[in-house]
Amino acid sequence: MNKTHEKEQAGVKYHIRPSKGLINDPNGLVYFKGKYHVFYQWNPHGTEHLTKNWGHAVSSDLVHWETLPPALEPSEWYDSYGCYSGSAVVKDDQLILFYTGTVKSSSGEKRSYQCTAFSKDGITFTKGGPVFDHPAGFTRHVRDPKVWQDEKGTWWMVLGAQTEELVGTVIAYSSPDLQEWTNHGPLLKEPLALGYMWECPDVLLMDQLDMLLFCPQGMEAEGDLFQNIFQTGYLLGRFTSKGTFQGDYASFRELDRGFEFYAPQTFVAGDGRRLMFAWMGAMELEVEQAVPTVQDGWVHHLSLPREITIEQGQVIQRPARELMVLRKEKRTQQELLENSHQGKMPSQECEMHFHWAGGLSDDFSVKLREELYVFYEADSKRLTVERTNWYTKKREVRRVRLEESCYLLEFFLEATSLEMFVNGGKEVFSLRYFTDSESLSFVVEGEMPEITAYVLEAPVVKETTEEKMLRETKKV
Ligand code: FRU
Repeated sequence: MNKTHEKEQAGVKYHIRPSKGLINDPNGLVYFKGKYHVFYQWNPHGTEHLTKNWGHAVSSDLVHWETLPPALEPSEWYDSYGCYSGSAVVKDDQLILFYTGTVKSSSGEKRSYQCTAFSKDGITFTKGGPVFDHPAGFTRHVRDPKVWQDEKGTWWMVLGAQTEELVGTVIAYSSPDLQEWTNHGPLLKEPLALGYMWECPDVLLMDQLDMLLFCPQGMEAEGDLFQNIFQTGYLLGRFTSKGTFQGDYASFRELDRGFEFYAPQTFVAGDGRRLMFAWMGAMELEVEQAVPTVQDGWVHHLSLPREITIEQGQVIQRPARELMVLRKEKRTQQELLENSHQGKMPSQECEMHFHWAGGLSDDFSVKLREELYVFYEADSKRLTVERTNWYTKKREVRRVRLEESCYLLEFFLEATSLEMFVNGGKEVFSLRYFTDSESLSFVVEGEMPEITAYVLEAPVVKETTEEKMLRETKKV
């Protein structure tokens, strides 16, 4: 494999990815002084989950990103093992970060502290230290503060937690001023047995229904469900001013049906849209270390920004409309097809839409790049994505039963990643894939859809002068 090809194989162009090292959760998503800020868990020193800082990227359009120096790095007694995940709010013209400071004792025991950091310019941050004591009744697994303000002006914080009985949960705090915090205890008043730890909670206050988003660890797979190493899902209901979430606790539903989507976080954009980024993603350690880019010194990327809405009681995820700026050339069906069932993707970085005006009434499949196999079984309305696991070399699947027949598949493809939006965002599959094939073919069986495709021009994440200077002085 020559160098250029290796570069192509790295294959992540229009998603936020690290220049080197390991990236995980998106953190501190916020719109501040005319810019979108995306912070992220980042180990710049290697591709393992060791000491994390908060990497920092900014954009004025959600498409072209520039990286800044890390906003937070381990430096204090309360965060010496890592500045773990958290969120951002704007108050009195200041950007305030809430994050989990983690420390590890010489015996290997970890402790966590919920901490703050402040910035006037959105570039340099001053740490404020822990905001309250560790709550009683929970192990040291309390982390990932997500903070927001309700319409009455009260600030709320939710935290992922583990009870002393080793059950995952979310705890809520409130504050009038972001300084004095009141502990409201578990957000769900009846315990919900979904694993031993919940990470990265988020509460989305929406018009008709609210949404509690969280990531349970330790759930057993159930048929097609919960097949990933860790889960990401939500409950719908109402967040109350008592710091509780009322809803149908039995209705936990996965947010993404693909392979490694994890640790999503949302924020409200200036125009009121609820946008979300996630990490792509969570995988077993041996699978992670076998990701081909590890050889090039980096691993993982974030998801595309998605807009979240609830329509007729159903959660809908759409690619943020700003992403249309990536579209360079449109290709028609005639231009794409080579014969009645086979065609060529316009580029490794592309968007492809498969549309059936009346919905699919028969089975359908498409094989992309001789690697990804997407098939729909009309009888059961089951949609499946199949790929080769790059560690085990075995084929593996993720699938979901749709509530109505499949009528629209929107693929966002890169050389090593796919986000597939189904039926206008009623389901989404996110996944990585690695293939040695340079083929751009797609082969369709079953009812031919109307196909439209776009070459996506892929803006590389740029380094700002500040980050370059830091790198050159070898600080990161
Ligand atoms: C989720 C998570 C968080 C934690 C962070 C550490 O992927 O484990 O709970 O804050 O990653 O990097």
